[in-house]
Amino acid sequence: MLIAPSLLSCDFSVFRDEIVRIDQGGADIMHLDVMDGHFVPNLTFGAPVIKKLRNATDKPFDVHLMISEPHRYINDFADAGADIISFHTESDSDIDETLRLIEARGVKPALAIKPGTAPEVVLPYLDRLYMVLVMTVEPGFGGQSFMPDMMDKVTFLKKEIGERGLSTLIEVDGGIAKDTIATAAKAGVDICVAGTAVFGAPNAKEAITELRALCG
Ligand code: DX5
Ligand code: ZN
Repeated sequence: MLIAPSLLSCDFSVFRDEIVRIDQGGADIMHLDVMDGHFVPNLTFGAPVIKKLRNATDKPFDVHLMISEPHRYINDFADAGADIISFHTESDSDIDETLRLIEARGVKPALAIKPGTAPEVVLPYLDRLYMVLVMTVEPGFGGQSFMPDMMDKVTFLKKEIGERGLSTLIEVDGGIAKDTIATAAKAGVDICVAGTAVFGAPNAKEAITELRALCG
C-alpha cells in the first residue's frame, strides 16, 4: 500500500516544512488538493503555489483537481511539476479532451469519481489511465467519515483492470485512518490518501508507518 498524505490538513503557514516532514516520515506520494469554490464549496491553492513547493521533495506530486473546468489549467499544473493529475468526471470539461491535454504533457492521467458516481463512467478511458481516484467522502473537506460502500466500486474496477491486463492503480481519498485502511487494503486499493490521520497525529512518521502496517 502506498500512502499519500493530503497536504490539505497541513499547517499552511509552513507548507514547505510540512512537505519535508512527511517526506522524511516515509510518505510515498504528496497529495495536493486543488479546490475552486465552485466545483466544491471550498478554496485552497493553485498552480503557482505548487510550483514553488515542487523542489521541497523528490516524491511524486499527485494533484487532485476539484475544479469545474480542469481543461483550462492542465498546462499550468504540468508546468508546476505535477506527476499525476486527477480531474473529476463530474466536472464541466470534456473527458477525452482533458485526458489528451494531460497525455500531451507527459503527465500521468487519472479520473476521479464522487461517491454518487457509478464506476462505469471511467470504463471507456480505463486503458489510458494511470490511476482511478475513488472518493470515499464527498469532496471538499478533510476530516469526514469513510464511506465503506465505495469498496464495491474498487472491487468492480480491479476486476475490469485485471481482465484487461492493465496496470491502472486505484486510489481512495477521504476518511482513511487506522480503523478504515484495512478495509481499503482488502478491497485491493493501491494508494490511500490520508489527511487528518497523518497531520492530526502527534508524529507523522509513526502515523504513516502504522497505517501501512495495518494493511498486512
Ligand atoms: C477531500 C480531499 C481529501 C482530504 C482527505 O475533498 O480530496 O484529500 O484532504 O482528508 P481526510 O483524510 O481527513 O479525510
Ligand atoms: Zn484529495
